[in-house]
Amino acid sequence: MENKEQKYSSDENNTRYKSGNEVVQSNSTEKCHATEIDLDLQDIEGIGPTTAKKLKEAGITSVLGLAVTSAEQLAVDISFSKDTAAAFIVGAQNLLRESNVLEKEFVTADFVLKERKSMLRCSTGSKSLDGLLLGGIETQAVTEFYGEFGSGKSQICHTLCAMASRPQSEKGFDGKVIYVDTEGTFRPERLQQIATARGFNAPEILKNTAICKVYNSTQLELIIKDLGRQINKFKAKLIIVDSVISLHRAEYLGRGTLADRQQRLNSILHKLVRIAEIYNIAVVITNQVQSSPDAFFGDPTKAAGGNVIGHTSTYRIYLRKSGENRIAKMIDSPYHPYSDTSFTINNRGIDDVEDYMNREKLEGLLDPNLQLDTVGGIEENGFNDSKKKYSG
Ligand code: GTP
Ligand code: MG
Repeated sequence: MENKEQKYSSDENNTRYKSGNEVVQSNSTEKCHATEIDLDLQDIEGIGPTTAKKLKEAGITSVLGLAVTSAEQLAVDISFSKDTAAAFIVGAQNLLRESNVLEKEFVTADFVLKERKSMLRCSTGSKSLDGLLLGGIETQAVTEFYGEFGSGKSQICHTLCAMASRPQSEKGFDGKVIYVDTEGTFRPERLQQIATARGFNAPEILKNTAICKVYNSTQLELIIKDLGRQINKFKAKLIIVDSVISLHRAEYLGRGTLADRQQRLNSILHKLVRIAEIYNIAVVITNQVQSSPDAFFGDPTKAAGGNVIGHTSTYRIYLRKSGENRIAKMIDSPYHPYSDTSFTINNRGIDDVEDYMNREKLEGLLDPNLQLDTVGGIEENGFNDSKKKYSG
């Protein structure tokens, strides 16, 4: 049945949709935003009314939704062969290329450079952390923050919720946020406090943040599968998953379940990468740490989730405590230098140590002669005293 349908549609559409293999030059037309276009599943080569109906029944309602699906998953969902499923996905991606949503398959490096200049960056709320990230978190990328408990992962996520709705001229995304909370640690009061302390419109920011509480790993997998639809519905520009691993880690115990767990995590992460690229949005994930007893030198902690997460995240930042401050270190990136920086946590969410000190000094809470030390912290006594007075 599907073969007949596929043949009919491809004959009809061959001239409409080219293979997309040509190398485009830098003067090519600008990319449009995925959420701005209106394409139908039946516009895809090989998909007629019957297949479109099947896809919709499997929860795939849009071309974008189909383009981010994996062939293995789709083959199971619509009971077609993996090859046919892969052909539909490629067809969806080609259609997006034709509509200038996706880049052509082969493009020149100068074109990619130009495209990257128009990519959006959102401030994390701390100038020093923005510096480490060369401007903030990026669209079309998955940024992973990992570190032990209390290292500031969720605080970064809360601060990003406040920053993302800022106008682009003020280093925001001018967009909404979907916050997938797997640990039950999202606090609207904290977001309100951060937004108010920064002089932002707190009620509006709360309205622009959609929270999705997740209780088990299967639910997380289903939520990620359906994320494309939610992004379109909510017009989100940033997806936060805090944390991406905790549920799988708690449910899949013992070596016997490791392969299954890693495969499931792999599928979640690849879907997030495709979503970031195709929907032109930023994805931020948090990850836990595990101790590495075989490390003889240096820090014996490493990110949980093994290579599956390590190879999938675009940028990977390690957070650790340093007294009352936090150190962020760029661990893996295709283009950031491997450097580190420090930030602090206060009523503004995450903040710069220096800015925080200057404000404290202005308010007369700190000794005006107090200096920053070199490890990115502040001399412990002065900071601790002020912190007690500051945060109450
Ligand atoms: P886990 O989720 O447990 O792995 O840790 P995490 O890395 O997400 O930690 P989180 O981001 O929740 O950071 C917790 C730390 O942030 C606490 O130890 C506090 O020092 C600080 N913190 C949390 N809430 C506030 C607040 O309202 N005001 C201030 N000043 N600090 C806060
Ligand atoms: Mg947390």
